[in-house]
Formats: sequence, structure tokens, C-alpha cells
Amino acid sequence: MIEVENVVAGYTRDVDILRGLSLYAGKAEIVTLLGPNGCGKSTLLKTIAGYLKPREGRVMLGDKDISRFPVHEKILRHGLGFVPQTENVFTALSVRENLQVGGNALDKSACEARIRTLCEHYPVLGRKLQAPAASLSGGERQILALARALMPSPGLLLLDEPSAGLSPKTLGEVFEAIQRIRAKENVTILMVEQNAMEALRISDRAYVLSMGTVAITGEAQSLMNDEQVRELYLGGRAA
Ligand SMILES: Nc1ncnc2c1ncn2[C@@H]1O[C@H](COP(=O)(O)OP(=O)(O)OP(=O)(O)O)[C@@H](O)[C@H]1O
Ligand SMILES: [Mg+2]
Repeated sequence: MIEVENVVAGYTRDVDILRGLSLYAGKAEIVTLLGPNGCGKSTLLKTIAGYLKPREGRVMLGDKDISRFPVHEKILRHGLGFVPQTENVFTALSVRENLQVGGNALDKSACEARIRTLCEHYPVLGRKLQAPAASLSGGERQILALARALMPSPGLLLLDEPSAGLSPKTLGEVFEAIQRIRAKENVTILMVEQNAMEALRISDRAYVLSMGTVAITGEAQSLMNDEQVRELYLGGRAA
């Protein structure tokens, strides 16, 4: 479904942040990206989304090379959804208006129907449709950001730290929402997370990045049980 092949990318001409990185995520898989601060996780998602162009390598979505497509084209025409690490909802707009922005490629009736469907899946949004997004709690805001990205029914959803800053209980709710997205929408999810153990619990596979390349990869379950991975990357012992 999504395949990143030997990608080299960076923000300035002389510094590579991604240094020959390869990974893939299959249809309706949940794949988590882990790794220390600054190792290039967000840069990878931004490169897949199209905010950065790879200097080398390519990004394949299905059988299409999307490496050089602009972001809006990927979102409008190639089934890509992206929830960035910060500023992922429009706080000045209502919940409904945020969803309408997400659905602006749809015609009006399809957009309204999609809003109704997503509100059935995420009742908290239905209850607060008219409320300003600024009034939502952290967890509600993340669910709105997910739902906004889901409006055009993407085949691939990129999530950058969906549980950042949430309490343990709220974090559980957001991960549950992500699991439900996969089940209901049949969408491939590539997700960056710092809450490694919790993320691995809902993932099929994971990649641990280090300095712009893949250090370790495997089934989520086996990474969770791997003593060395836990010590080095997951902050100690399993809960
Ligand atoms: N807009 C930018 N311009 C220049 N350098 C940047 C930019 N954004 C990130 N970087 C640099 O790229 C490197 C990787 O950053 P990135 O945001 O991808 O890390 P990350 O793995 O997502 O970290 P975190 O866990 O802290 O979110 C860092 O050294 C960072 O300083
Ligand atoms: Mg980041």
C-alpha cells in the first residue's frame, strides 16, 4: 500500500535528516514508528505527505510513485490523510466546520452524509458539532483531528503522535478510536508515537528509527517482548 524506498531527505541542502530510509505498510495495517526525539519521525511523515521532496529514493502509494506530487494533490486525489503533530484542528472554527474543511473535495450532500457517519462512529463529535474546536478537551481534539482527516475516506492515514499530551485514560480512548478507524474504514495507518507500549498494543508491526534510518523492525508483539528493544527504546520493562 505505502512503500518508502531508500529515501534521503532534509530541510537544507547540506544536511540529510532521512538517510536512506525504507519501510512499508500494507493494506489496513497499523504500523508504528518509534525512536528518540529528533531521529526524523515527523520528517518522514512530512516527506510521505509531500511537504518535503526526497533527494533520493521514492515513495510508492499502491503502484503510483507519489514522491513528487504536491500535498494537496495527494490529499484530494490520491487518498492520503495527514494529522500533523501540532495545530491539527482549526480552533477558531466549530467542530462541524472543521469536518467540512476536511471534506471540501466532496460535494455538499456527500460531505453532510460523511459527517453523519463519523458522528455515529465518534458520538463525542456529534454531541459537540456546533461547539468551537477551541472548547474541546485534548482527547476530543485528537478525535476531531482524526475525523477531519477521515472525511475524504483516505486509503492511508499518517498520524504524528496522536496521543501526545493526553492523560493515560484519554490516551486509551484515542488508541481505541484508531483501532476502530482501521476496522471500520479499512485504512492503512502509519503512526508516530512516544507512548511506545500502548501504541504497540494496537499495532501489527513497528519500525524503530535511529538517526534517519531504520534500526529495528518487526511484529509489534515481538518488539514488545524483546528485552533489548525494551531497554534501549521503550523506556524499560513492559507494564
Ligand atoms: N522545519 C525544519 N527546518 C530545519 N530542520 C528541521 C525542521 N524540522 C525538523 N528539523 C530537524 O530535523 C531533525 C528531525 O526532526 P523531526 O521533527 O523529524 O524529529 P522527530 O523524530 O519527529 O522528533 P520528536 O520526537 O521530537 O517529534 C531534527 O534535527 C530537527 O531539528
Ligand atoms: Mg516529531
